[in-house]
Amino acid sequence: MQAFGKVAVLMGGFSSEREVSLDSGAAIVAALKSKGIDAHPFDPKETPLEQLKAQGFQTAFNILHGTYGEDGTIQGALELLGIPYTGSGVMASAVGMDKYRCKLIWQAVGLPVPEFAVLREYSDFDEVERRLGLPMFVKPAAEGSSVGVVKVKEAGRLKAVYEELKHFHGEIIAERFIGGGEYSCPVINGEGYPSIRIIPTTEFYDYEAKYNRNDTVYQCPSDLNEADEQQMRLLAVQGAEAVGAAGVSRVDFLKDTDGKLYLLEINTLPGMTSHSLVPKSAAETGLSFADLCVEILKTAHVG
Ligand SMILES: Nc1ncnc2c1ncn2[C@@H]1O[C@H](COP(=O)(O)OP(=O)(O)O)[C@@H](O)[C@H]1O
Ligand SMILES: [Mg+2]
Repeated sequence: MQAFGKVAVLMGGFSSEREVSLDSGAAIVAALKSKGIDAHPFDPKETPLEQLKAQGFQTAFNILHGTYGEDGTIQGALELLGIPYTGSGVMASAVGMDKYRCKLIWQAVGLPVPEFAVLREYSDFDEVERRLGLPMFVKPAAEGSSVGVVKVKEAGRLKAVYEELKHFHGEIIAERFIGGGEYSCPVINGEGYPSIRIIPTTEFYDYEAKYNRNDTVYQCPSDLNEADEQQMRLLAVQGAEAVGAAGVSRVDFLKDTDGKLYLLEINTLPGMTSHSLVPKSAAETGLSFADLCVEILKTAHVG
């Protein structure tokens, strides 16, 4: 397939999610090659990004997670270099990394988000506690992997939790507890894909459950009835559209005990290892991992 030319799979990078990215990247290089595409690994930590041109790369498949990967910075650099890249652009990437501003946008377009409050030094913590109720979740807006996420259960603890978390970059937000189940729904090229139910064996889907345990259950197809499934896919598409996400993204959801669905966060650069959620969901529709990679590559763009 000549249309893409020499393809750089951008992987590894500088963030704490480097290892996951290398895993995803290796799977993508192999998949693209199996489709006859001239794909090569490219790690910006080892080779400066400006070398892409000198090395003859014409297209970039971005699978760098976290800082300098899915936050808009690498996207800006690729824009300047004029190299078409997969996935979201500068703005959607930056918004997707900021839970607070993402929620503001979703709220503004009428999408359901758990009630929340931004915590500041001068907040009325008692008022926030009364309004959101207990338990509630408090978290840094700019982290991921459940880092800094705290479930607050005791009355009068909120201020102390804020003090513990305020060193994190960006805002600290408090959220109403939504306790009826956790889901994730991929959006691929503007289309909602089968949802996945996530059932952690820990109290919530914390760092342990994400990376250090192998007993978290991922159900795809999930347990939603047909109407809720269609509703979730529509909300996921609308959530991605609202922030301007492109290519592949994954919108995470919480379901309340009364069945109502809430958007939790968007991931504009979801993992693509063989056991990641997006490939699992795509496979449900008959889309193989290799075909999925080609579909993503087709959306490479600049400008
Ligand atoms: N409002 C909430 N209600 C119930 N559980 C929550 C809430 N917010 C976060 N959680 C739990 O904490 C986990 C991590 O929170 P999340 O906002 O997704 O941050 P991260 O970006 O670190 O994944 C979620 O997957 C969920 O298990
Ligand atoms: Mg999350």
